[in-house]
Amino acid sequence: NAIPATLIPGDGIGPEVTKATVEVLEALGSPFEWETCSAGMAGIEAGGDPLPAATLDSIRRTRLALKGPLTTPVGGGFRSVNVRLREEFKLYANLRPAKTIIPGRYEKIDIVLVRENIEGLYVAHEHFIPVGDDPRAVAVSTGVNTRDGCRRIARFAFEYAVRNGRKKITIVHKANVLKALTGIFLEAARDVAKEYAGRVEVDDRIVDACAMQLVLNPWQFDMLLCTNLFGDILSDELAGLVGGLGLAPGANIGEHGAIFEAVHGSAPDIAGKGVANPVSLLLASGLMLEHAGRPELAERLRAAIQATLLEDNVRTRDLGGTASTVEFTAALIKRLGAA
Ligand code: NAI
Ligand code: MG
Repeated sequence: NAIPATLIPGDGIGPEVTKATVEVLEALGSPFEWETCSAGMAGIEAGGDPLPAATLDSIRRTRLALKGPLTTPVGGGFRSVNVRLREEFKLYANLRPAKTIIPGRYEKIDIVLVRENIEGLYVAHEHFIPVGDDPRAVAVSTGVNTRDGCRRIARFAFEYAVRNGRKKITIVHKANVLKALTGIFLEAARDVAKEYAGRVEVDDRIVDACAMQLVLNPWQFDMLLCTNLFGDILSDELAGLVGGLGLAPGANIGEHGAIFEAVHGSAPDIAGKGVANPVSLLLASGLMLEHAGRPELAERLRAAIQATLLEDNVRTRDLGGTASTVEFTAALIKRLGAA
């Protein structure tokens, strides 16, 4: 019962952390059978397109992908590949769990953020208005939130809560100022919440206050439900609460597929040096195992990662250790063998 899945190694440190992840999944006995495809700079080099048709075809078939970070070239007129993938496969839900593995500034953090992934200000309907001889004197950006889109992401969050035994969802908004754009989100989310009354608690926070509360007392939160831009910002704040980008996984889930990724970028400063931390992508592959109906494998993987970091104390440089990517991977595979 192999499960076909698309593998996009990506740019920069992408191929290094992807190789590590594939090896670990192999040792774990994962069901995935990979179709390796290019995207990003690798796609441009291979055929002039950062999102090649063959890659899209593969995801259309498998509906399941693990993706390394992609470098979006600045200039050159290419739209962000990540945004294109979200639109193409209607990946309307971005899932960003933040759970402490290595106690640091904070301990015992366990928060799941659900971000609306294709509406809001990220539709990027932007333009400039000329004034006098300045062609770009005024910048205008239009955000779009639809009632259907808001209800869809709210339902995703509440269904996730029920399936995963979560107790409370906090709706994050700025309905005091952006009364239309985020007011509709708050309203739709509260409507959906009524269907889950008695099963999942609901409250709401204004985004700026929420950002502060996350620093002061993160333990009060269980799940956060956010619009696109607020979710983008708060999900990186959550990554900071649990030790940074090297430890944070993400998933983009929709009606036509699901793409799992590390939340960090291609890290050009350390690419090719063999020191990248593969844990973020490994945890993303754990989310992918859960999504594919193999939660027991995801749990084993997570436990082995934790044991490698905490008990064996094998860590990459970003976590204060000295291990290379290859050394960390070998230690993790040894752990899996021992488990
Ligand atoms: P970045 O996340 O690539 O790097 C930020 C810092 O964190 C760097 O010092 C880097 O060395 C370090 N870092 C990141 N991941 C690491 C890991 N796994 N192990 C050890 N250290 C790690 O962010 P940056 O520099 O802003 O972006 C670089 C490129 O990545 C840009 O082209 C950007 O567009 C792209 N990017 C792609 C994303 C994606 O495909 N999902 C997400 C974020 C950025
Ligand atoms: Mg972001």
